[in-house]
Amino acid sequence: MAKPLNVGLVGGGKGAFIVHAHQKAIHFDGTRRVVAGALYPEPKIALEEAAAWPYPIRGYGSYDELIAANASLPADERLDYILIVTPNHVHYDPAMKAMKAGIAVFCEKPLCLTLKEASALVRTSRRLGVPFGVAHTYLGHWTSRFSRFIVRRGLLGDVRWVDSSYLQGWLATRLEATGQQQATWRVDPKRAGGSGCGGDIGTHALMQLRYVTGLDVTRVSAQMETFVEGRPLDDHFTVYCTLSNGARALVRASQICIGFKNELGIDVAGTSGTLRWRQEDPERITIHLPNQPDRVYWRGAVTPGDGFLPKDVPAELMAEPTIPSGHGEAFHDAFARLHRCFERDVRAWKAGRPFTSDGSKYANVEDGWTGIAFLETCLKSSRKKGAWTAMPKAI
Ligand SMILES: NC(=O)c1ccc[n+]([C@@H]2O[C@H](COP(=O)([O-])OP(=O)(O)OC[C@H]3O[C@@H](n4cnc5c(N)ncnc54)[C@H](O)[C@@H]3O)[C@@H](O)[C@H]2O)c1
Repeated sequence: MAKPLNVGLVGGGKGAFIVHAHQKAIHFDGTRRVVAGALYPEPKIALEEAAAWPYPIRGYGSYDELIAANASLPADERLDYILIVTPNHVHYDPAMKAMKAGIAVFCEKPLCLTLKEASALVRTSRRLGVPFGVAHTYLGHWTSRFSRFIVRRGLLGDVRWVDSSYLQGWLATRLEATGQQQATWRVDPKRAGGSGCGGDIGTHALMQLRYVTGLDVTRVSAQMETFVEGRPLDDHFTVYCTLSNGARALVRASQICIGFKNELGIDVAGTSGTLRWRQEDPERITIHLPNQPDRVYWRGAVTPGDGFLPKDVPAELMAEPTIPSGHGEAFHDAFARLHRCFERDVRAWKAGRPFTSDGSKYANVEDGWTGIAFLETCLKSSRKKGAWTAMPKAI
């Protein structure tokens, strides 16, 4: 039996948020485990936090130490990948250093702060051939994968219109003024990047659109607005887009819509039908077809050749859900699916076999690059009052 992969954490101490969903997902299958961490920027606290971790891990005072110590460990204790769960300004440096030390990288989104950094990460991962995943959580839902199959297989005809959105309300007031940890860095351009709401959740809406449709954004007309006084970054992000097949799309995000929690959703309208999916109801996809009752497909309960689905729904999709429909999968399961697929690539890479970090199972470093390119293009457009602005050529 293969030994579990060793994962090292960068970030995650003292009231951190997203590390907890990840660490559950890492342990989900018993084939990956967290063994080490540099959990906090101050070395003393980083070590204390590691000592207080719910199960034993090796603590390090910094990610530099975590990465440097790795080479001298016995082979079966070395890290197979690191998970970067720090604020956005601490993504680039540990990712770059880990790759150069021969450690694969799974990094939170947005990939980094600038397109220059993103390009350097893409080039280095290609040059060194290191697996690199970006944590666009919602691609890990089985229903996202099924949506991708339906749309890319052409079952809705040609895509004409996409509305991909992520609406929240938790920053409707100046929460950052209270010192709330997650709010404080998200509204600081030095730590969050050039966009607040767009970088934080607009990138998820963009990724959902690209993943499900296979289309790219070619130009944007963006309005990046700040409703809460005194906040230096956008808290409301509305982008009208042209897609690579000529279709139109709205990619929008907001953090000031009181009462909205994590309302990520996508509607894809094609020439012969429309698909609707909402992450707050992640087990079902609705398909609207002309002059027919709506079809609702539940995860794990679909029948190939039912009059809409073809007979050859990929076996991988049919086989994959392990919990019967009706027993709900959600956020943690989606994260687990991403780590499970990343694990396959890391194992192939370590064994010297080819791996396909092609974006079909989790977002890759090129997807992360596209997210940053999108944000920079939106910033340019928004500064020119929404003037149509072309996306840069893919790297
Ligand atoms: N994929 C998703 O669904 C999702 C959800 C939430 C957050 N995120 C992303 O995850 C990242 C973290 O967000 P969060 O809300 O968990 O933030 P957080 O503030 O809750 O946690 C950040 C952690 O990083 C640590 N840290 C900061 N600088 C460090 C350094 N130099 N060395 C070691 N540790 C350091 C902090 O001490 C803290 O433990 C962000 O990039 C965010 O955009 C993604």
